[in-house]
Amino acid sequence: MKPRVVVTRKPPGDSLDRVNQVADVWVWPEERRIDRDALEEQIRDAVGLYSMLTDPIDEALLDLAPSLKVISNMAVGVDNINLDACAKRGIAVGHTPGVLTDATADVAWMLLMASSRRMTEGVDQVRNGDWGPWDPLGDLGYDIARTTLGIVGMGRIGEAVARRSIGFNMDVVYSSRSEKPNAESAFGARRLPLHEMLGIADHVVVCVALNDQTRHLIGRAEFQAMKDTANFVNVARGPVVDTDALYEALTSGLIRCAGLDVTDPEPLPPGHPLVGLSNCTIVPHIGSSTWRTRVAMADLAADNLIAGLSDLPLPHRVA
Ligand code: DGY
Repeated sequence: MKPRVVVTRKPPGDSLDRVNQVADVWVWPEERRIDRDALEEQIRDAVGLYSMLTDPIDEALLDLAPSLKVISNMAVGVDNINLDACAKRGIAVGHTPGVLTDATADVAWMLLMASSRRMTEGVDQVRNGDWGPWDPLGDLGYDIARTTLGIVGMGRIGEAVARRSIGFNMDVVYSSRSEKPNAESAFGARRLPLHEMLGIADHVVVCVALNDQTRHLIGRAEFQAMKDTANFVNVARGPVVDTDALYEALTSGLIRCAGLDVTDPEPLPPGHPLVGLSNCTIVPHIGSSTWRTRVAMADLAADNLIAGLSDLPLPHRVA
């Protein structure tokens, strides 16, 4: 008998065909996040789970799934999964690093530039018929070339963001748990304590994974440490930033502007105070959202799942 696999959302591409060859696959049939009730019902006799970053995989869910031996998350971030609870039960957890690095770094730069040069305000003016004659003082933003880029978390995505700054002749500073000799030799990046780094960066880009150490890493004290002209970009996870502190920083002049791919809560409700701010550019968590990237993520997730079902080492197992 083939092992049972639960897939919480149909992924792009044809990687599920490979899973179908080795497993009895159930796929959530709807085009929205799986209902908790449905997941609880389906998980009971599952050996494998192919999950999305929007599925909370907690202890209560794992308790319902005594046969589960592998969880393959179609994401690099695994903050939706209780990793300790998985380790306790001997459940292998896989993720999809590497393949989304470039797409996410591109979105970091898209936001950095859009926010700094006030792109959404300009687009709104044109759309709303408010485009007046050229004005020497109109729509002034802040420079990108020859400024200082500060990166919080110099992992794969942080490095890719830094690499893109070469053409802009920027100085690169970063804060990270450990030194990153590659980034230092390739981009002349300098590692500094967080607050010191925030104090000299013109553009701050957050690229750290969300975990117990990084939750609310950026709060009131960190915004106070930034320049009052700082441009703040988050492509990591919403809860790395204290949303109330961000709102206060943007409305009190502590910082100039922000570009967000991720928020807390996510999605942001339409009436949320951040949505109405002209100096805050928000896109709906699209960092990895290109066809090639998402298909590559789905392929890696299938590789991890298939390996785990056969008790083989996962190609990309979370430590
Ligand atoms: C991830 O894989 O964690 C990304 O946030 C998806 O866009």
